[in-house]
Amino acid sequence: MVTVIVGGQFGDEGKGKIISYIATKDKPKIIARAGIGPNAGHTVYKNGKRYALRMIPCGFVNDRARLLIGAGVLVDPKVLLKEIKETKTKGRCFVDKRCAIIEQKHRDLDSSNKHLSEIIGSTKTGCGPANADRVYRTVKLAQDVPELKGYVTDVPLELDEAINKGEKVLIEGTQGFALSLYYGTYPFVTSKDTSASTIAADVGVGPTKIDDVMVTFKAYITRVGGGPLRTEINAGNIKKHVLWSNLLKKAKKDGIDKRDVNTTLAEYLDEKGTVTGRYRRVGNFDFELAKYSIMVNGATQLAVTCLDKLFPECFGVRGFEELSNNAKSYLKNIEKKLGLKASLISTGPDINHMIDLRQNGGRKS
Ligand code: GTP
Ligand code: IMP
Ligand code: MG
Repeated sequence: MVTVIVGGQFGDEGKGKIISYIATKDKPKIIARAGIGPNAGHTVYKNGKRYALRMIPCGFVNDRARLLIGAGVLVDPKVLLKEIKETKTKGRCFVDKRCAIIEQKHRDLDSSNKHLSEIIGSTKTGCGPANADRVYRTVKLAQDVPELKGYVTDVPLELDEAINKGEKVLIEGTQGFALSLYYGTYPFVTSKDTSASTIAADVGVGPTKIDDVMVTFKAYITRVGGGPLRTEINAGNIKKHVLWSNLLKKAKKDGIDKRDVNTTLAEYLDEKGTVTGRYRRVGNFDFELAKYSIMVNGATQLAVTCLDKLFPECFGVRGFEELSNNAKSYLKNIEKKLGLKASLISTGPDINHMIDLRQNGGRKS
């Protein structure tokens, strides 16, 4: 049973939370991380401690899972070894021998190059330049780095063995559909495709072996860095919304200028970049983008996160029927427009803040 999890928007959809829940609940044998590299920032909680992971799989919260990083992922050895130490995963966390290596020169270029750092608004983690060197075929591979001796493996072979034995395998995507180099808001995108097919290729699993593709959406939308955000909330296009219209009223009462409401909104929703610390831009749920993302990802399952941020009364709720009527109809509208029922609904940052509708054929209405 192979499940791929991807982001359906601009990253930061809360995939870390969704993955850590599935890793704990379903107990997969192997959890393999795909995606671009250490530009990603996933937030995961284990025993009340918060981890902001950039390299190792979020599934580390399951102590028994083997953790693998696929050949498509760029590895920054310093970040990797620091995280292995912090998470105490030495002996069960390995990278594919063909992973490309990020060096100081890549990080330097990602910061000094105006196009990348200022216009695109990169994370300055060296990912773009390292992927460029990979295309030039000059990049170093993990198998050639002495610091990584003892940490390399053949990820496709390991996955193939587990799949043939009928074990559960979880494949973690990073970033989000709208940041895809192919399908995103080019040129304001990351340095590789982010859709499920590429995520599977990153770890060396062929498309016929994938059973489920779960696409994760925040109940609204956020974007960090430059580029278009069609449904962005700013002084000019504030649409009627339970929370946002309330916030505007509050801003008016507090004497806050309309133009500053966007920052206030990000602050209010605690939307701050995990890697860069930048405030995220915030917008209404973008149905057009979500539908397209479901189509290209070949989604079979839908996960919705941060419902509690829009409907604070739903914080920590674990049963669909306990959601407020407003939250229920908000969700049902999303499901109707996307043609897919939510199988996981996240109502808070903790692993247990989850409505799990995967069993018994989901819910009736
Ligand atoms: P990338 O897409 O790789 O950047 O990471 P990500 O999707 O794992 O998201 P990230 O951790 O960057 O941001 C999500 C934030 O929302 C984190 O601070 C999570 O702890 C938090 N979070 C996730 N799900 C929920 C939820 O349902 N409710 C609340 N309140 N917070 C959540
Ligand atoms: P890069 O991937 O560092 O080159 O950054 C390119 C664009 O993708 C910038 O707008 C970044 O903010 C965005 N980006 C890259 N990784 C993430 C992520 O994990 N979450 C959100 N945005 C990201
Ligand atoms: Mg993130």
